[in-house]
This record gives sequence, structure tokens and C-alpha cells, in this order.
Amino acid sequence: MHESASRRILVTSALPYANGHIHLGHLVEYIQTDIFVRFQKLRGHQAIYICADDTHGTAIMLRAQAEGRSETDLIADMQQAHRADFSGFHVAFDHYGSTNSPTNQRLCGEIWQSLRDAGLVASRDVQQLFDPVAGVFLADRFVKGGCPRCGAADQYGDSCEACGATYSPADLVDPTSTLSGGVPEVRSAEHLFVELEKMHSFLDEWTQRSGSLAAPIANYLAGHFLGEPLRDWDISRPAPYFGFEIPDFPGHYWYVWFDAPIGYVASTAEWAAENNESFEQWWKPTDDHDAIEIHHFIGKDITYFHTLFWPAMLKAAGLRLPKSVRVHGFLTVNGQKMSKSRGTFILASTWLEHVDPEMLRYFYASKISGGIDDIDLDLDDFIAKANADVVGKIVNLASRTMRWLTESGLSAAYPDDGGLFARGAADGDEIAAAYEAGDLARGMRVIMQAADRANAFVDERQPWKLAKAGDEAAAELQDVASIAVNLFRQLMVYLTPVMPALAEEAGRLVGGSIDSWDAAKTPLVGCPVSPFRALKARVTPEQIAAVLAASQQPTETDPASTNAKGTSMDDTADTTPVSSSPTLTAEPLAEECTIDDFAKVDLRVAKVLTAEEVPEARKLLKLTVSLGGDETRTIFAGIKGYHDPATLVGRHVVVVANLAPRKMKFGLSEGMVVAASGEGADGVYLISPEDGALPGMRLR
Ligand code: MSP
Ligand code: ZN
Repeated sequence: MHESASRRILVTSALPYANGHIHLGHLVEYIQTDIFVRFQKLRGHQAIYICADDTHGTAIMLRAQAEGRSETDLIADMQQAHRADFSGFHVAFDHYGSTNSPTNQRLCGEIWQSLRDAGLVASRDVQQLFDPVAGVFLADRFVKGGCPRCGAADQYGDSCEACGATYSPADLVDPTSTLSGGVPEVRSAEHLFVELEKMHSFLDEWTQRSGSLAAPIANYLAGHFLGEPLRDWDISRPAPYFGFEIPDFPGHYWYVWFDAPIGYVASTAEWAAENNESFEQWWKPTDDHDAIEIHHFIGKDITYFHTLFWPAMLKAAGLRLPKSVRVHGFLTVNGQKMSKSRGTFILASTWLEHVDPEMLRYFYASKISGGIDDIDLDLDDFIAKANADVVGKIVNLASRTMRWLTESGLSAAYPDDGGLFARGAADGDEIAAAYEAGDLARGMRVIMQAADRANAFVDERQPWKLAKAGDEAAAELQDVASIAVNLFRQLMVYLTPVMPALAEEAGRLVGGSIDSWDAAKTPLVGCPVSPFRALKARVTPEQIAAVLAASQQPTETDPASTNAKGTSMDDTADTTPVSSSPTLTAEPLAEECTIDDFAKVDLRVAKVLTAEEVPEARKLLKLTVSLGGDETRTIFAGIKGYHDPATLVGRHVVVVANLAPRKMKFGLSEGMVVAASGEGADGVYLISPEDGALPGMRLR
């Protein structure tokens, strides 16, 4: 491996707030960080991916109160949910901690002491906004008003989305409480401050000349903040507050943004303790500046904290400064901000119930270029690209050639391929440079160009014709297929950081697991090839529709207008006209289809044999159904919450019996249960045949 050039690389993503679930926006960050770490590991470096939940602050406190339980209870549940979401998307942390840990509290105390010793902490009275209705001081996110710097309306209490300024909530123009809607009153309380201005020359130097920030970020800081004295940073909050009490200031707590980044250090310390490593080696600076590299991945909204406060704190505490802070833009869906009413505020868990997570990893990779531009998840574009690139170019390369090798294995010597493999191997440096720079889009383009060359080779040599030609073409067939399979494997090496599960499957079919980047340099010869299995199914528009439907925020339904169930229990037939069905208006009819189109969908009567909840999934039931005889299928159906599993057993339902099997987080789903549901109307209604229908009967 790269012993001599082996680097030690500590990588972080921002710590997600414990007061919300992971959504597709967050994943822009966690997926790209994970790709970076997997890439470094594949290159033979020691890379560790460190993260944690960000658990403190007023929001958690209020939410726990509202739910009638303790904060620790709430954050434990959220951590479990976050972990499940991340692992579903193959985001693999080396350590995932919590800011509410004893290690973090201890480190906060130490770093606090350093700030005190350096003379950076000052005290003064602050006029703070107090919500008399809710009985709490209103901080950051709970007050809105005009920006004191640029005047933009409707800004949060800690920072302005229009000009990027950060300030104290009491400075807002015409504030209102987002908790109670009331007008907050100003109360005076003593607060502690970090005098950031005392670090000004250090921050000038570090932001502008250390090479840790991309030019646009450095320029933004110079233009917006460093040209004037830096504001003091209000670092304490009076009780009530959920956080760590400041040891030398009883009744007051560190503001969540003080203990949150220290969570990076604490989580590393916990990892080190478990792995026989010294955490000081990672976070204490050494003469050899590059002996350890720290890379922080963050979204552009938290730039100020990570490029001014955090380096100042690290410097004052005598800790190692990051080698890079990599700032990315925000996710839009279909060109717009994620929206609950449009159904585009998509939770990670919702996506996992319907669509292959690796397809999203690939799509994000194809869009992320390492800059601060927002990236758009256009859902039609997503379907087209995932299917064209991952299935059409990569998986197909294997599916159209691997089967000719099941008996013969790969050719004993690598055949003449006109330089294709060598050219792919030479691409490795450019692809690696793109991964290193975070320009994943460029990396993906180079990989897909190589895939195009490989597919063109197969088109030209037509192995299917050779197969028909019989024995005399057998050797050539083996050679052509061996070349294609080697090119496929080479591409899979490059794609391993992006689609680790696919790479693992590919390795299982030929050549064993891919464990180093250099595996792309040498073709495999003479080794056995397993019978081809479908490696990835196409993404369907129906899957995406299911995600959108499940993400639509439930709207209040008017019981009088939703009498479309049709199964009235009393003996007067229900003759209410349904022509004004809100469902039909909300979800217009699909495009016209032919009888042949319909015949492609094989609908069968099925009998439910077992039904159980999938505990980790919000909406899924796991069903086994019989299609008659010995034919059974396992189906994950998104009907949990609407149906008691016990009452489903024995019932006849309708299933799509020829749906391509789909690998889900919880297992393979081999079909779909048909149910009725309406846009804007609650409920999922299973379809059952009349009495007398038998499992296996076809619907036509
Ligand atoms: N808790 C803070 C970070 C503390 S780090 C010491 C926080 N949490 S967050 O949950 O709001 O966001 C976590 C990360 O996800 C941030 O880097 C944020 O920029 C990123 N994203 C959150 N929503 C996003 C999008 N819609 N698009 C892209 N990234 C997004 O901030
Ligand atoms: Zn502003």
C-alpha cells in the first residue's frame, strides 16, 4: 500500500441538531463527507470520520417539556433515529458521539479555562428578550425581526440570511417571539463574552493565508467581517437552559455554539479511548504541521462559527487548527427550497422506505463540485441519471457480459483490449485528484466517460453473436467478456467511495472485495466468476411519487367531503355523488395507456400469511403473502399505522406480482400491495376481492 505516503486524516461533518430528523438536505453534507473518508481509506490512509449529535439549547428544552419527558430521554431517541438514518445511507462514522457527554463537559471546562487564562472573557449586562408567556429568555431561533445590520425583515435572532451578519437577538428591530407570537420584553442579565477582536490579527492571517479556506470564503470573511472590529461573542445563557453549567458562573450555561464544536474534540477523544489511540496526537499541534490533517465539512449557513469563532477558540486553547474547512451550498428540490406542502421536505427515513439510497449518493456525487453553489435534486433528472448512469452504463456492463464467464472464468492472460484498461488505469490520478478536491462531479464525469468507452467496446465486439457462433468463437467470447468484466471492476474501484454496497456486491461476483485504489491498476486473470445477479434495479417514477406522497404534510380533511369509501355498513346504498372527489382534483388521472401497457402489470390475488411491524421504520409492515401453491413473497408495505398487523393475517389482498424485487434497508421486497389513497386525504385503504377469489388469480 502507500506506507511511506500514508496520511492521518481526521474528518468531521457538522453535528446535526438533536431536535429534528435527518432530511435530504443534511445528507448533501454527510454523504459527501462519507465519500471523502471512504476515498482516503481506499487509498491506504488512516482516515477517521468523527461526528456527534448537537444536543443542547432552548429548542430541545422546550420540545422535551412539550412532550412531557426529560431532555436526556429525548436526545437518546433522536440519536438512535439519526444513527439509523445514517447507516441506511451507508454513512459510516468511526465514532458518533453526543455533545451531552462527560468527555465533552470536561473538555469544555478545559478550553474555557484557556480562554480565561488568555484574558479573552469579559462580563457585562445584556438586555435580553424574555418571553413572558413562555417564561423563557428568547435566544437565537425563537425570535424574529429586522436585521440590525442591513434591515432585512423576518430574520432570526442570531444571524441574518440576507447579509450574513450575526448579532444578539436583543438588537433585532421589532422582534416577536416565535414561541408564543407575543412581543418579548427586554430584561437585563449578566452575560459572559469572548472578546474575538483580540484574535483579529490571528484570524486575518489564518483565514486569508493558511490555505484552509477556498478563495470565495476567505474573500467573504474579509469583505464582511474582518474589515471592521470583530464583535464580542455572547457565550453564556441564564437558566433555564439545557446545557452545561459554567463552573465559575453558577446559574448560567454555555451557549450551545460553545460546546457544539468542542464536540468534535470530545468525540475524537472517545474514539481514541476505544481504539488505543492518543487523542492528544490528533488535536495537539506538533512541529510537523502536516502530521495530522483535520478537515471540517460544513454548510454555508454555519461558516461564521467555523471560520472565525472556532479557529479562535482552538488557537486560544492550544489545539490544532483545521487544514481545511470545506463549505458546501444548500439543497433545493425541483429547483425550490424544500417544502412540506409540496412534499419535497423529504426525510431520510422516508426515502429509505421507497428508493435505493446509493442512487441518491451517486446523484449527489454527480452534482457536488466542491463550491458553495446550491445543488438541485430535480427528481425527474434524478430518475433519468440514476438509471442511465448506474444501471445503463455501469451495471449493464456486467449484466451483458458476465454470464459468458460462469463456466470458463476470466481469461488466463489479459487479452489485447486496444489499450482500454490502461487508459482507465491512467484516469485514476485525475479521479483521485477530483475526490481529494471535493469536486465529485468531475470525478463522476471521468468515470462515466470511461464507462462509455467500455460499453462501446462491447457494442462493437458483440459477445452475444460470438455466443451463438459456438465452439470456434469460445476463446474470443471469453476474451471479450473478460475485458468487459475487468473494465467493470476497474470502474467499481473508482466508484467504491460513492456506492460501497454495490462495490461489495460486485466484488462478491468477481475478484473478491475491493480494498484498495490500486486494484484499478491491474486486470484480473484466470479467476472464477459467479453467476450474474441483478446488482441494481432501476428507479421508477412510482417510487418517487411514493416518497412525495409520504412527505406531504397531512392536511386537515373535512369529513363531509371525503365520503368516498363506498362501503357503507347500513342498508341504504350510499349514492352521494363523488364527482367532486377532492382526490381526483388533487391527483389528476395519469396519461392514457393501452391494454398492452396494462397487461405488463401482473396483478394477483394474494393471501396474507404473516404480518409484522418493522420497528425501525415509521411506515412499514413486513408481509408474507401466498400467491397460491408454494409461491410466497415477502413484501414491505407502507401501511403501518393504518392497519393492525394481526387483523391482516388471512385476508385477501391484491399485489403487483411481477414488480422487480427491491432491496430495502430491512430486506428484499418482492412486490407491492395495492391500496387506495388520495392526495390531501388521510388513510391507506387496501383492496380486496369479493369472496370466492383464490390466491394467484389474475386481475384483468
Ligand atoms: N448543530 C449545528 C452544527 C453544529 S457543528 C459544531 C447545525 N445543525 S443542523 O442540523 O442544522 O445542520 C447540520 C449540517 O447540515 C450543517 O452543516 C448544515 O449546513 C447542513 N444542512 C442542513 N440543511 C441543509 C440543506 N438543506 N442543504 C445542505 N446542507 C444542509 O447547523
Ligand atoms: Zn442583514
